[in-house]
Amino acid sequence: MVNPLRGMKDTVGEFSEKYTYVVENCTKIAKNYGFSFIETPILEETQLFKRSVGESSDIVGKEMYQFIDKGQNDVCMRPEGTAGVVRAFITQKYDRAGGIKRFFYHGPMFRYERPQKGRLRQFHQFGAETFGQESVKEDAMIILMLKEMFDVLGITYRLQINSLGDFNCMPQYRDNLVKFLDKTEGLCEDCQRRKLTNPIRVLDCKNEHCQSLLKDAPMLLDNLCSTCKDDFEELKSILDGFNVTYEVDTKLVRGLDYYNKTAFEFISDGIGAQNAIAGGGRYDKLVEFLDGRPTAGVGFAMGIERLADLVVMPETKKEGYYIGALSEDALKQVFQLVVKKRKTDAVHTLYSAKSIKAHLKAADKANAKFFICIGDDELKNQTLVLKDLETKEEKILKWDEL
Ligand code: HAM
Repeated sequence: MVNPLRGMKDTVGEFSEKYTYVVENCTKIAKNYGFSFIETPILEETQLFKRSVGESSDIVGKEMYQFIDKGQNDVCMRPEGTAGVVRAFITQKYDRAGGIKRFFYHGPMFRYERPQKGRLRQFHQFGAETFGQESVKEDAMIILMLKEMFDVLGITYRLQINSLGDFNCMPQYRDNLVKFLDKTEGLCEDCQRRKLTNPIRVLDCKNEHCQSLLKDAPMLLDNLCSTCKDDFEELKSILDGFNVTYEVDTKLVRGLDYYNKTAFEFISDGIGAQNAIAGGGRYDKLVEFLDGRPTAGVGFAMGIERLADLVVMPETKKEGYYIGALSEDALKQVFQLVVKKRKTDAVHTLYSAKSIKAHLKAADKANAKFFICIGDDELKNQTLVLKDLETKEEKILKWDEL
């Protein structure tokens, strides 16, 4: 027997129901907020992710599904969606056209991580990205959109926010932090490496000993320039105005290198150690880093597998029709009726003549709301009995009235 690869699973059964429910509801909400659907290739040039997600990140450093293809191209299966969407934005020359563009996407992402509950090697994200909108109101709007998605899905969460500063205040802060880290002894090996590649990643080290050493480290939020400070204050006041509760976590730096200013994460306490259900933030230099014209960017992505563990599904109600044949003669007519009715409704049927009892059993299994059986009498009179399996009401109809 051939099994799926470690950390990969089929979208089937209950998970498939939840997957489509999440995607359908989030799609509707994203469209209301002005986002339109985009799909980018799963395979991209490796350098796209090196130049965006960043060589110092775990994703690029350790987790990429990277290989040389038959044409000797260095390619990689996307570990996340933002880089590809930014690449597409530039490929389409939207950066030259100016104006505001909003996209949403969903699909599989690949990270060669150590699989555990809530952490897969192939997982699915639903995400959205806005280009050309510098206002922090867009950051707030995106957080409000996520709140609405979680409310509709019946998912409770904690929201954490931070500001990573911009290109005025971040370099100075980074220098101060490095000076502090140079004086600090006993940091773990990962932090020693991060100190050289991307020092602010030291701040969110999961090692408790490192965290105790960082108690007196300079804090991001104490070192913001006035623009970043004002934006962060505005973000908080918009969220307050909509009664969105949040925690300010000045050590929230995110695991991807492209962020500046707003960074946020939605956390759930009900799914174990892998508790981030969505994350995102602003990336105002990324379009430029990838050779586009300077264009502001902000977005998020959420992990559909983690949401599926939390989503509250609506009660399944009876839906659609069941049409069955009671005799061999009726089968052909039933086929015609089924195909015609399927233009407007879901219709279940069996391909052989059966007793009413057997058909009722099949209709119940299919969870059909309406039940019709065609036998010799119905053929002769061109009428049928339409039974509502919920209310048990029956109606006699002419065939063409159905
Ligand atoms: P991220 O935080 O790396 O951000 O991933 C977003 C979400 O994907 C996480 O919060 C989590 O729910 C889910 N996720 C990540 N890795 C796994 C995994 N191995 N197994 C299951 N679920 C996982 C990004 O990917 C950014 N592109 C988000 C973004 C969009 N920022 C701006 N725009």
